[in-house]
Amino acid sequence: MLKLNCRNSDSSVIGIENGLNLEEEFNNFSHKIASIISSLNERRCIPGQGLQWMNLGYNEETVWYVKEFASMVENRFENILVLGIGGSALGGLAVTEALLKPYWNMLTSEQRNGLPKIFFLDNIDPDSINGLLDILDLSKTLVNVITKSGDTTETMSQYMIIKDRLEKELGDNYRRNIVVTTDKKMGILRQLADQEGYKIFYVPDDVGGRFSVFSSVGLVPFSLVGLDIDKIINGIKDMDIELRNTDIRENIAAQYALINYLMNKKGKNISVLMPYSSRLRYVPDWYTQLIAESLGKEFDRAGEKVFAGITPLKAIGATDQHSQIQLFNEGPNDKIITFIRINEFDTVLEIPKIFEYTGVGYLGGKTINDLMNAEADSTRVSLADYQKPTITITIDKIDEYNIAQLLYMLEVQTAIAGELYNIDAFNQPGVEQAKNYTYALMGRAGFEGSAESLKEKMAMV
Ligand code: PA5
Repeated sequence: MLKLNCRNSDSSVIGIENGLNLEEEFNNFSHKIASIISSLNERRCIPGQGLQWMNLGYNEETVWYVKEFASMVENRFENILVLGIGGSALGGLAVTEALLKPYWNMLTSEQRNGLPKIFFLDNIDPDSINGLLDILDLSKTLVNVITKSGDTTETMSQYMIIKDRLEKELGDNYRRNIVVTTDKKMGILRQLADQEGYKIFYVPDDVGGRFSVFSSVGLVPFSLVGLDIDKIINGIKDMDIELRNTDIRENIAAQYALINYLMNKKGKNISVLMPYSSRLRYVPDWYTQLIAESLGKEFDRAGEKVFAGITPLKAIGATDQHSQIQLFNEGPNDKIITFIRINEFDTVLEIPKIFEYTGVGYLGGKTINDLMNAEADSTRVSLADYQKPTITITIDKIDEYNIAQLLYMLEVQTAIAGELYNIDAFNQPGVEQAKNYTYALMGRAGFEGSAESLKEKMAMV
């Protein structure tokens, strides 16, 4: 199980100005937290509450269909190409980067046990799309188009480009190279996929993009590249049982949400997530979207303007010790920093005993593993010396079970934080507004009115 160490956010370690009296705060908030957790667990049983992502660990039917599909297409494709953006890409990116062997796409087919390479197109930079299309053999590529709404401009424009090329290359057979993940009823892609006769997976109702990593949005690509989705599901289920506990002292998601919330109230406006692992490098990107879109809200539930939210910031240990740590230590005390520490890496790398009588001789005979964790420990302690609050999440090793636990815990803490801020963590009006402006600018029917007023505004700013 994950471990959460909050000691370095306590006033006994970093002083009362910057720290919290955790014992006292856990007491003060114990009833509120218990009622939030009970209410989330009641509401997850009711459709329309935005909480169906909490039930994804129990969706055996989807797991079965995903595995069946993966075995049907086994050995048929050299590449998987995921088209998606935001919540339709970031979870997939974070989990595959964490769990596949490093440099996966550069390994030979034999080294990959015959499993396909995987690419994510999560942007519309023409140079990178063209660059990828130059190196991909589309005839040997299975394209997974993922968009819950089924009409996101970026994803749909990528899909149109790739469908056109596939059709030109493969004739009528191009349909075998496309699998779609979208909403059951709504959206343009749903209609097109029906007309084309593609294989379709559904994003369940009430599962927002940023909470969809354990739905078919993530499970399809994970399964296609050979990840063990049963272990992922077990990780979520076990964590889910832990997080049903209404006692804040026994519930790490509640502790994490409360500390971040109270630190935010104390002026820590930035939440840094800093894994000491290159394999976890995209987890902060996924988490950035999760808390930015969920907690960044203008209005609370009572309709009051609150401008809620905490700004997420990515850092990677040990790399960012040579970049951002100077700021974290000596700059403004406006951050709450979370480290993710790995107990046991998959491999061990020894530093040879050479240069014994030089200034680097002390490193000889140690391991890079020891060095990584020594750096995590020393950064944590030095931040405490500067009275900067930190939290450490420890995971035993990077595998399907633990990564699922980590991501699910972060999702649940986000839902709890939403309740503490008293905002709706499951909508994203700020994203919709920019999406609609783009439709207007690109000439989508029905948005002519917005296009006119947008042009006026653009001329002014
Ligand atoms: O969290 C969200 O809902 C959004 O960030 C979406 O994931 C993102 O806008 C992409 O939407 P869609 O999956 O509808 O293409």
